[in-house]
Amino acid sequence: MYWLGLDVGTGGSRALLIDAAGHPCYSFVAPHEEMRMLRPLWAEQTPEDWWRAGQIAIQGVLREAGIDGSEIRGVGLTGQMHGLVLLDGQRKVIRPALIWCDQRSQPQVDFINSTLGVGSVLRYTANPVLTGFTLPKLLWVRDYEPEKFAAVRTVLLPKDYLRFKLSGDFATDVSDASGTALFDVANRQWSEGMMSGLGLERSILPNVYESSSITGRIHASAAAATGLALGTPVIAGAGDQAASAVGNGIVTAGSVSCTIGTSGVVFAYLEKPAYDPAGRVHTFCHAVRGAWHVMGVTQGAGLSLQWFRTRFAPEAAYDDLTADATLSPAGAHGLFWLPYLMGERTPHLDASARAAWVGLTAKHQRADLVRAILEGVCFSQKDGLEIINGLGARPDLVRLSGGGARSPFWHQLFADIFNERVVTLQTQEGSAYGAALLALVGTGEYSSVVEVCKRILHETEAKEPNADAAAFYSRRYAIYRSLYPALKSAFESIGELNG
Ligand code: XUL
Repeated sequence: MYWLGLDVGTGGSRALLIDAAGHPCYSFVAPHEEMRMLRPLWAEQTPEDWWRAGQIAIQGVLREAGIDGSEIRGVGLTGQMHGLVLLDGQRKVIRPALIWCDQRSQPQVDFINSTLGVGSVLRYTANPVLTGFTLPKLLWVRDYEPEKFAAVRTVLLPKDYLRFKLSGDFATDVSDASGTALFDVANRQWSEGMMSGLGLERSILPNVYESSSITGRIHASAAAATGLALGTPVIAGAGDQAASAVGNGIVTAGSVSCTIGTSGVVFAYLEKPAYDPAGRVHTFCHAVRGAWHVMGVTQGAGLSLQWFRTRFAPEAAYDDLTADATLSPAGAHGLFWLPYLMGERTPHLDASARAAWVGLTAKHQRADLVRAILEGVCFSQKDGLEIINGLGARPDLVRLSGGGARSPFWHQLFADIFNERVVTLQTQEGSAYGAALLALVGTGEYSSVVEVCKRILHETEAKEPNADAAAFYSRRYAIYRSLYPALKSAFESIGELNG
């Protein structure tokens, strides 16, 4: 018997099969169409394309495993958070989804704050409302595409659109709902205050469940389209960060992870909701029943390297690029990278921030540019870690996963720049793994998420900070921290001039 985790990512959808002991067995990835960027800082994808890729990924993993759908006991869902999927009364997609990194909605954020008051928004949702969150995107559609808004009957998050296609249910989970700016995070339910204060109908929102609950079962047309068996339970699952944290065992107090995907996230478990008064990190419900988490987000972490590679070194593999970076000395001959390719969340909360190399000279080579990117992403994640430590998380180690964990060189950079012990886990299967573990719990194989993590996860590689490198990087971090404030007003002027 197997359990399936399905991750609707940004670059692609990934299906992963695990067995009852939690071992990953087979996986299959189906790429998505590239996100459409009609203007700088806008980002859209089509939900129908996610469903196309989801079907291919599920069929692909069943084929790899040589099994039929009756051997799957449960399906757990995860995916990119914050995206806005709009369905009409015929349950058809109204327009492409505005996805997590879309930054067009600052006027709508301002409107929400002036209508409800910043204090009420914090009280209702435990977070300030940000351009990346779902609510201001919905209000952008209300403002600029009123005829489309008038047709809206249901608002879904990306993974929950696939749930609808798989089981016909409109449902989400508490962790993903937390990133909508419509959710009462402290009480784990939709916020009446936010909805009624902005004149929105509760009926457009899906039912909300704890992450390891069953929300429905595979229906006939999805069984035909995917090869899954009719009636297979579909588990609520979690937003990609909470799912990935389950896969990293960040399910008890004192544990912190750093995950480098397209975005980069520092994530800590919380027993009770705790808030950064400046709202620079998000306080969301965890995929663990009755627990919360706090996370700091770098918008363009893995994206920085991916962008560099596709634009300037398409012939190089990622491993070639990180190997190249070892040819440049610590500090990349004085070069810094600010990774604000899609604005920034933590710590600046600034949709108009722009990326930059600072300190370029004629001496710099490609290796230096790459090294500066790797270091800049670490600095940006350190910004998040420092805020989280200030809230009392104080980890004795950080668990690293995603792109950063696959490169031993980048792994050591994280240890030196964080000045912490940084460990990786034996299983590096990302959000899909967490979703599959939630399915194991949801179908009753284990009693809780904490139990499954305790029984299944093992640390492997640990890297200690090198004292000299850590001292050097702490001086460099002070310079890094001075760069954004120095450039902030220039970024604003650039945005005003160029749109
Ligand atoms: C989390 C976030 C990203 C996206 C895409 O807040 O925006 O992690 O979910 O991965």
